[in-house]
Amino acid sequence: MGGTIYHAYVRSFRDSDGDGYGDLGGLIERFDHLVDLGVTALWLSPITRSPDHDWGYDVSDYLDVHPELGTLDDVDRLVDVAARQGVRVVLDLIPNHTSARHPWFVEASSSRSSPKRDYYVWADAQRDGSSPNNWVDDTGQSAWTWDATTSQYYMHNFLDLQPDLNWWNPRVHDEFDRIIDFWLDRGVAGFRIDVANGLYHDRALRDNPRNPRAVIWDTEVQGRYGIEHVHNFNQPEVHDVYRRWRARAEARCTPALLMGETWVARVDELAAYYGDDDELQLALNFPFLFAPFEPPALARIVADSVSAFPAGACMVWAGSNHDLPRAASRWANGDHRRIRLIQTLLATLPGTYVLYYGDELGMTDSDIPDHLHRDPLTAGRLNGQWPRDNARAPMRWDASPTGGFTTGHPWLPVHPVVEHNVADQTVDPNSTLALVRSLISLRRQHLSDPASSYREVHVDAHRWVFDSGPLRVSANFSDDDVPFDAGGDPLLSSLGPTPGASGSLRAWEAVVSRRRGDEG
Ligand code: NOJ
Repeated sequence: MGGTIYHAYVRSFRDSDGDGYGDLGGLIERFDHLVDLGVTALWLSPITRSPDHDWGYDVSDYLDVHPELGTLDDVDRLVDVAARQGVRVVLDLIPNHTSARHPWFVEASSSRSSPKRDYYVWADAQRDGSSPNNWVDDTGQSAWTWDATTSQYYMHNFLDLQPDLNWWNPRVHDEFDRIIDFWLDRGVAGFRIDVANGLYHDRALRDNPRNPRAVIWDTEVQGRYGIEHVHNFNQPEVHDVYRRWRARAEARCTPALLMGETWVARVDELAAYYGDDDELQLALNFPFLFAPFEPPALARIVADSVSAFPAGACMVWAGSNHDLPRAASRWANGDHRRIRLIQTLLATLPGTYVLYYGDELGMTDSDIPDHLHRDPLTAGRLNGQWPRDNARAPMRWDASPTGGFTTGHPWLPVHPVVEHNVADQTVDPNSTLALVRSLISLRRQHLSDPASSYREVHVDAHRWVFDSGPLRVSANFSDDDVPFDAGGDPLLSSLGPTPGASGSLRAWEAVVSRRRGDEG
């Protein structure tokens, strides 16, 4: 758990059969890249069958693999290849909703008396025919869609083609117990749980409060489009689900991993998902992702997390994912010094380091022309949404026109920056890839304890100095050199050759040292 998780957006990692989509075969072919990085786990974006209205986050069969991505045999091969290298494979599990094409929903929407009716959330129209309440979905439209066949509305927190499951129904719990066991029995090591703070909704379907501060990037108020998500997210009952799943996870010879996409605004809410060390082992920290790239803001979230989380909880640090602008653009604005600083901080904070594919190369966001976008949720920039495809460009393996990603036509244009490729960066000792490999090796040596302590040493507008287990990390967030004392033996500089023990920290440099008096 104190390791490094590589987050592969499977369709964009590597295509093994020339159809333009990355696949499991591509992951197997290029597994050496993960071994060379030294990661401990591989998290795959959804691989199960789906009509791809939300690229796999709309599941139509939880127990089979999407044909474009491979087969169940490929999963077995991947798990086997990974196990031989000491790497664990983690799948994306989507329990909040299914695809509208899932046989459960097809059956449930066929009649009000369907045996599957109660797998989903149905409600009558109000007297004037309007939707049951003011909840909005992720696109800003009503979270309710009218089903003409059965004359009721169904609820969806995402697209109307992604009906929410009804977790008040015990049979839904049983279905997911079976799904979890199916994959764990195949040797999968655990799950990243999609919309982990969703699942339950208020049974009385009360209106949500309006609040102009309810916007996606707010780190205090949870919600979007001016509506707080009080009654359709973060319901207390969701914790019972994770206690049940954790017990199942612990019942395995090697306990399975449960990592939540806990998209909550505040760290005290996040802490609740660890329970009393009986719920999720890892809860993704969105307040950190949304913080401005300034020492006081970042350091405050880390310190608040340390004090809010239960003792021994493993923190988890990610800078990028497939839904948000990449850290290299969002935080670093493409500046290579800042990009290197970011990875150095993420890799040295105590806990788990999540590395989104391509971040090891310094990949920035693409600027894919509107007509080539493939993501229905953000295509057309509905309600000013940021186009997620820009963070999903196929990765470059070499400097060729298709980047060595595919022999066919890539599903999205390959990343435009030719220098962000594995072949060239592998032979360049000063590349971002070389830095990330060194950082992971340094973590393995010094930060293997998931509960390593964090201590803030100094924070001001331009500097952040902290102790992480036996390490001292000193970071300069400014365009000027600043004086510094390594506080021990310097092991690594984000900008290249190891610096001296004192002197100055260069502009946007971070130095990692082994603390004095902490040689044990
Ligand atoms: C979060 C996933 O990361 C995102 O890609 C997806 O659209 C929503 N959940 C809905 O499943």
